[in-house]
Amino acid sequence: MNIAVIGAQWGDEGKGKVVDLLTPNVSIVARYQGGHNAGHTVNVDGEQFVLHLLPSGILHPGVRCVIGNGVVVDLEALFAEVDTLAEKGIDAGDRLLVSDKAHLILPYHRELEVLAEARRGDRKIGTTSRGIGPSYEDKVGRRGIRVGDLADTSDDGPLAHAIRENVSVRNRAVGGAAVDWRVVHREVRTAWTRLERWVGDASLFLTRAMASGERVLFEGAQGTLLDIDHGTYPFVSSSSATVGGICTGLGVGPRAIDAVLGIAKAYTTRVGEGPLPTELHGTEGDELRESGREYGASTGRPRRCGWYDAVAVRYAVRVNGIDALALTKLDVLDGLAEIPICTGYRHQGGVTTELPSSGAALAACEPVYERMPGWSAPAAGVRRYEDLPSEARDYIARIEEVTGVPVTIVSTGSERSDTILVEDSLIDRWRADRPVSV
Ligand code: IMP
Repeated sequence: MNIAVIGAQWGDEGKGKVVDLLTPNVSIVARYQGGHNAGHTVNVDGEQFVLHLLPSGILHPGVRCVIGNGVVVDLEALFAEVDTLAEKGIDAGDRLLVSDKAHLILPYHRELEVLAEARRGDRKIGTTSRGIGPSYEDKVGRRGIRVGDLADTSDDGPLAHAIRENVSVRNRAVGGAAVDWRVVHREVRTAWTRLERWVGDASLFLTRAMASGERVLFEGAQGTLLDIDHGTYPFVSSSSATVGGICTGLGVGPRAIDAVLGIAKAYTTRVGEGPLPTELHGTEGDELRESGREYGASTGRPRRCGWYDAVAVRYAVRVNGIDALALTKLDVLDGLAEIPICTGYRHQGGVTTELPSSGAALAACEPVYERMPGWSAPAAGVRRYEDLPSEARDYIARIEEVTGVPVTIVSTGSERSDTILVEDSLIDRWRADRPVSV
């Protein structure tokens, strides 16, 4: 049974930890969208790993990792990540497959993004400045450069022509020093000598592996509300973070996905601009940020914080077909006297329980809160559901009711071991179905 792990909020839900937890029960972890804008933090035995482009499964020896065609690849970032892991004794080298159809992020993409954000002024997206958007723009504009294109090592072939054209667009758009396309060409040709061994047909690899009974975990980056189609457009990332992105971003059919696990924090955070109905301003927000250590794993930016938004997560359940939730960072709510849950939005004189399509409408929504009693005994570090304070169990039960799906995992701290696996729930059964193989 293959499983998809999808962010059910605005990213940073703690997917890295959950993927890491489930990886011993799969042989392949595949990423299908986004790029090194992602920041998946995993703590193992007191050591912290932050993964940006490589699937989080890479931390487990023997597990193979796929970077699908739906991902945009910055080669410098890829090599740096492989090298950092090697320094920590993790050899990614033999276990990596990068789709030959994945598009590249080249240095001029980052420059074009900085320019576009500056032009937007007050309406800026607040991107991670990694060149993600411009690379996807080139992809859908049918002028992108793909990983497999680098196999053309000639001086004056199609690759050289494509780079020359793209760089001349950059030179017209960006003031100051002109980029010499030959330098870019030389750099990617050098990069190819290192990259080549990892490049292949990801769709074929996955299809064959699944046919021979291997289990795959599809690892989402960002989150549903940052999805290019289903997110809070235009304040979104440029890829399909929702479940459909798995099929297009890896070249597998929908029946490859047997179950969808949504990841949601026990409250809400967001980095960058755009509407966030439950956002807390002032000390309450600051306190949540500090106790949750809510700073972007990729950019270090402070995350905007707010209460759990059941309208947004229920929406994520709908657009992804989520079967169950992993609820993360429950321990951060320890010690609060009461904990609000947003169950609806007040808008234009009425109350709605559905997420509006328009960003302007969402920005005008006022959250409707239901207040749950907090708990004084700590949830931090608890490893059995029945050991949670009863108010914490009530909080989870109410989240299940208003979100519409059961909670199968509860994370109570940053370490791998600070985790509750709910007995006889989706993930408990999934793990039992295939004992740890690696
Ligand atoms: P981009 O992906 O760099 O284009 O940024 C677009 C929006 O998505 C910005 O608001 C970013 O802060 C946000 N974003 C991108 N990647 C992540 C992530 O991994 N976690 C949280 N927010 C992200």
